[in-house]
Amino acid sequence: MMKKFLNLGLQPLANSYITRNKLNHKEKKFKLIVGFNPKNYLVSILNTIPKEKMFNDKYPYKSSESLTMKKSFKDLSVEIKKKFKPNLILEIGSNDGAFIKNFKKNCVIGVEPCKNLAKITRYKGYKTFSEYWDVSLAKKISKKKKIDVIYSANTLSHIENFSEIFKAVNLSLSDKGILILEDPSLLECIKNVAYDQFYCEHIYVFSAIALKKILDKFNFEIFDIQNTKTHGGSNRYFIKRKKNSFYKLNPNVLKNIVVEKKNGLHKFSTYKRFANKVLLSKKRLIQVVKKIKKNKKRIIGYGATAKSCTVLNYCKINDKQIDFFYDTTSYKISKFLPGSKIEVKKYKKLKKNVTDYVFLGAWNFKKEIFKKERDFIKSGGKFITHIPYPKII
Ligand code: TYD
Repeated sequence: MMKKFLNLGLQPLANSYITRNKLNHKEKKFKLIVGFNPKNYLVSILNTIPKEKMFNDKYPYKSSESLTMKKSFKDLSVEIKKKFKPNLILEIGSNDGAFIKNFKKNCVIGVEPCKNLAKITRYKGYKTFSEYWDVSLAKKISKKKKIDVIYSANTLSHIENFSEIFKAVNLSLSDKGILILEDPSLLECIKNVAYDQFYCEHIYVFSAIALKKILDKFNFEIFDIQNTKTHGGSNRYFIKRKKNSFYKLNPNVLKNIVVEKKNGLHKFSTYKRFANKVLLSKKRLIQVVKKIKKNKKRIIGYGATAKSCTVLNYCKINDKQIDFFYDTTSYKISKFLPGSKIEVKKYKKLKKNVTDYVFLGAWNFKKEIFKKERDFIKSGGKFITHIPYPKII
């Protein structure tokens, strides 16, 4: 039984950017409520949206637009080649190919249900199936040759039906085959009061203790965990069939589990405390913005993320407070953020004569962004961040 702990109010679909001609149309909204399952430690949102409404031919997010993500995928591909020497690799949720492009075309397969993205990798010559990963697709793909490494980053958190995923993985992996999953870490989310990790697409934010329980049911186990910096702190789980004795259990697994338990990720009281911090974060962010607007200063946003959608709608911040967002994603440009209806403009290097304050929507790329905008910062430009608590930096 799920125990509710956080109510983030009525939210629109986070990635449904609005075109100018539809600005006056009524948006569909849903209740964003987050709960904890004391039996399997899983944290998830309670009202899920049909996947076809979110992952279609207009999916805006492209992994290749971030240097941080490109580097992370490149480094991982080098590690995979060295450690596992795979003959065939498959990525579930291959997006625009930021990961698969690090491999030779004849030894990698992409699976990407968003047709606009699958088109990109197919055009570049990578075998890409524009379908949802399931048992029938797995059978089709692995009929002649089994897969040695299946990788999936920031995708499992989007998929409601685990059972189908793991069954499909099991029947398509070779004997030595492994699954690598990478998703935002619940521990980092709790520590950073990053409540914006919850939105319609992020059904789950995983912990190692929850994933372990889920995998158990499908006779899989985690044999290594790497803590990465992407997406505000993620975990990369290396998973094998229990009967696969080819890989040894890395002590990192137990270490992560101990740390998660020390931080109370197995207890409901931890999530109640988190919810109280979220409420304080909301109050403080509203105060920070109010103070700036009282002084008649301009605020713009940086990175029109799905995460921003949760924050802006939860804190009821709109185009009266934030004039516009800069973003590099071509699909988002000249559209409006769902709910708050703040316009997204084509990214330009920040200048003090344009704005004094910038709300950091893409806080997970803070390092990359601060490096890019060092002239703005040197000239006295300020950023507003809500992570780990709202402040001006
Ligand atoms: P992402 O981190 O995927 O967040 P979410 O999953 O919450 O949508 O998206 C990052 C967004 O920030 C994406 O729209 C691109 C944008 N962005 C910039 O505009 N400039 C930058 O320098 C970086 C790093 C990102």
